Amino acid sequence: SVMDDWSGRTILGKKLTEMLGIRAVHVVSGNCDADTTSKSLLGMEAAKQFIANIGEGKVVAVTGGSTVASIPQYIAQSNADDLLFIAARGGVGDDIGLQANVIAASFAKACGGSYNTFYYPESLSQEAHEAFQKEPSVLKMLDLYETTDCVLHGIGDAQTMATLRNTADEERQMLSDQGAKGEAFGYYFDSQGSIVHRIRTIGIQTSQLERIPLILSVAGGGSKAEAILAYMASAPKQSILITDEGAANEMLKIL
Ligand code: G3H
Repeated sequence: SVMDDWSGRTILGKKLTEMLGIRAVHVVSGNCDADTTSKSLLGMEAAKQFIANIGEGKVVAVTGGSTVASIPQYIAQSNADDLLFIAARGGVGDDIGLQANVIAASFAKACGGSYNTFYYPESLSQEAHEAFQKEPSVLKMLDLYETTDCVLHGIGDAQTMATLRNTADEERQMLSDQGAKGEAFGYYFDSQGSIVHRIRTIGIQTSQLERIPLILSVAGGGSKAEAILAYMASAPKQSILITDEGAANEMLKIL
């Protein structure tokens, strides 16, 4: 029955909250590997948690990806017009609709707030990357990361993300040798939660996450179970995970 499903997911969430040692885990029904409805449910639940917990927060950093992209459409209220949305890291991916910059703009539109765009070409040489860091637009972003009140982010499977990013064979081999399992904010994590690699980018640092009061991690699908666990092994304790039954059940099998 509906009631059993509800209580089943509540229990799953409570178990995982305890095992992961984070603030809360909310489990939506289904498995987004198998059905697209679950991704909408993740977006809906994340929107609800965001509105319920943003409080006096002003600066909100968001990442790219299809999961975070599914959130803004469920933000019904537009009375949050003092919120500023920014990309949690610079970047220009292949699918323009799933870029953090575009998603930040969608959030701003949904809330009646504002956004800053931040473009960073990932193909820059080391020299150009260093020069870029002195640009006023970049310095402004780095300042905003220091005053960020909320982060909304996705989690990717390491090998899937490496494929999506057309990562060079050498780097993929390195990721596999280092045991990379999960990816978030351009950082790759092994099953212990240790950072094994970071893509060349400009963005929020994992050390900066520690003092951000509201962190919403949104990821579902059984295929992401290992990735979510890898990221959560060292995630800030105040994190709230929004996931689905597919991922939750797989995580409990591994834990
Ligand atoms: O960093 C993680 C990825 O952006 C997640 O992408 O939500 O499309 O699976 P996804």
